[in-house]
Amino acid sequence: MYSEKVMDHFQHPRNVGEIENASGVGTVGNAKCGDIMRIYLDIDDNGIIQDVKFKTFGCGAAVATSSMATELVKGKNIQQALEVTNKAVMEALDGLPPVKVHCSLLAEEAIHAALWDYAEKNGIKIEGLEKPKTDISEGEEEEEY
Ligand code: FES
Repeated sequence: MYSEKVMDHFQHPRNVGEIENASGVGTVGNAKCGDIMRIYLDIDDNGIIQDVKFKTFGCGAAVATSSMATELVKGKNIQQALEVTNKAVMEALDGLPPVKVHCSLLAEEAIHAALWDYAEKNGIKIEGLEKPKTDISEGEEEEEY
């Protein structure tokens, strides 16, 4: 039921880990299943995403979509990163079964949350970026998972 690309990114996820002193960190939860994802972005002075890492407590489809999403935003500028929607990620993975579409939202939302964090830290506004609804980092204890 999964494409070869999904299986590849699930079994060999790219960019797993954390970035110390990241430019922006976004943590989001999936309202449907309770799974959690955190994305770290390292953004240089020119607004280019030099590095990206993710950690997830989520299903296989969440792992695969996050892995692909990190590949798609790496080396891009902020505006290009905003264009990496869950739809774009699913296309890059040759599709997901309908029941797993919601999983692909985690990666998109986590990237947006990390960009929001970066913008807040730097006192800038990113055109077209809205405050992520599902950002669960605020006011919560840091937890290891
Ligand atoms: Fe929770 Fe896929 S079932 S992210």
